[in-house]
Amino acid sequence: MDSLSTETPTVSHILICEDELHQRIAQLGAAISEDYADKGQLALVCLLKGGIVFLSDLMRRISIPHQVELMQVSSYGMGARDSTGEVQFDPHLNLNIAGKHVLIVEDIVDTGYTLDAVGRYLWSFNPVSVETCVLLDKPERRKVEVPVKYTGFSIPDEFVVGFGIDADEMFRHLPYIAAVAG
Ligand code: IMP
Ligand code: MG
Repeated sequence: MDSLSTETPTVSHILICEDELHQRIAQLGAAISEDYADKGQLALVCLLKGGIVFLSDLMRRISIPHQVELMQVSSYGMGARDSTGEVQFDPHLNLNIAGKHVLIVEDIVDTGYTLDAVGRYLWSFNPVSVETCVLLDKPERRKVEVPVKYTGFSIPDEFVVGFGIDADEMFRHLPYIAAVAG
């Protein structure tokens, strides 16, 4: 385990260190490259903002040609730590995924509301398939079952930050996954 940063006093302990993250993301990239090698066009659809660090590492570990799309999704209010269950989409969103194999790239699957809503919404753009790749899974928190094809790590029911994931828009820059105190 890495030592804790003294500049982030409300981060209590590291759950997943940088080396573990990089190793696991390399495995995910290899598996995705193999599974989609002979399938046709692959499009990663990253859910903003939490998925950005995971996306940037994952896409560099995928050895087959693929396209990247970004999609803003929000189900938490500022200061809230529970999904509202109401997932908001940009009505002007235009995704170039028709006829392509879509892989949603998401930071965490928690209640499952977000991936459930996004998965159904993406079908309106006429892709060939829609699958999901998440960095973290909190299985104890699930409210709605969602199929997840690739999972980085299953973690306990703790509020986490780092590697793109925030608490009130803070801590996204941390290069590891840490639990938050309080
Ligand atoms: P779900 O709709 O409840 O599955 O929520 C998924 C979203 O909630 C994720 O994309 C995250 O943005 C956010 N989320 C869930 N757990 C955490 C956490 O521990 N820290 C920060 N954000 C979280
Ligand atoms: Mg998110």
